[in-house]
Amino acid sequence: MTRPIRPPVLAANWKMHHGPTAARAFLAEFLARFAPRDDRTVVLFPPAVSLHPLAESRADRADVRLGVQNVHTDAKGAFTGEVSAPMAREAGADFALVGHSERRHVFGELDEHTARKCRAAVDAGLVPMLCVGERIEERNAGETDAIVIRQLRAGLASLTPAERATVLVAYEPVWAIGTGRTATPEDASATHRVIRAELASLVGEGGAAVPILYGGSVNTGNAAALIAADEVGGLLVGGASLDVESWLGIVGT
Ligand code: PGA
Repeated sequence: MTRPIRPPVLAANWKMHHGPTAARAFLAEFLARFAPRDDRTVVLFPPAVSLHPLAESRADRADVRLGVQNVHTDAKGAFTGEVSAPMAREAGADFALVGHSERRHVFGELDEHTARKCRAAVDAGLVPMLCVGERIEERNAGETDAIVIRQLRAGLASLTPAERATVLVAYEPVWAIGTGRTATPEDASATHRVIRAELASLVGEGGAAVPILYGGSVNTGNAAALIAADEVGGLLVGGASLDVESWLGIVGT
């Protein structure tokens, strides 16, 4: 990858929204209204079928980066319905979400899968964005730190310390995703500090520079306070990234 990743990283997770036509229309309007900035990194995670259309219509606006929402653990094979990391790379992705809570809790993805997917992403030249986060019952039981540490260790297990220094981490408390209930900046910082400390032991010195994004009901009203919070190196935004106006408000924060 040629272009450096400059925090804050503002990432849009479109989930299963915006097919090729809607994605192109979004990008055209977004590019017309958002001038390139070298003080932040903007990433769009469209559905896989919209990756290539966006890569093509992006033209010279390589400042707007693309990522794939999920990859298979293998590079190719008899895996009906799946998309591999090399294919996503070829289609224009620079990043791959790994272990998003919907993958873990709706599709039954396990820690061992996240490890193999991080490996597959790095092998294909994609930057993994490893998502970690606790469920409400885990939070209430005081297990938040233990859960994110377990997910972090497991997800990065297949990478060397040098490779781990190149990843991105997103802390997304499951209870805050799509619920309108956001972690306070203080809550986010507290868990981000736990992640930062664990990165120091998993990565070594390079761990200090790994951006840790916050995600979960981020919107134009709370983005500024979250981005200003200690150890928050970016935002991973679902619902509020689907509308150009709202996304412009967040990336301009
Ligand atoms: P949300 O989703 O912003 O709609 O809560 C965030 C995510 O799932 O990445």
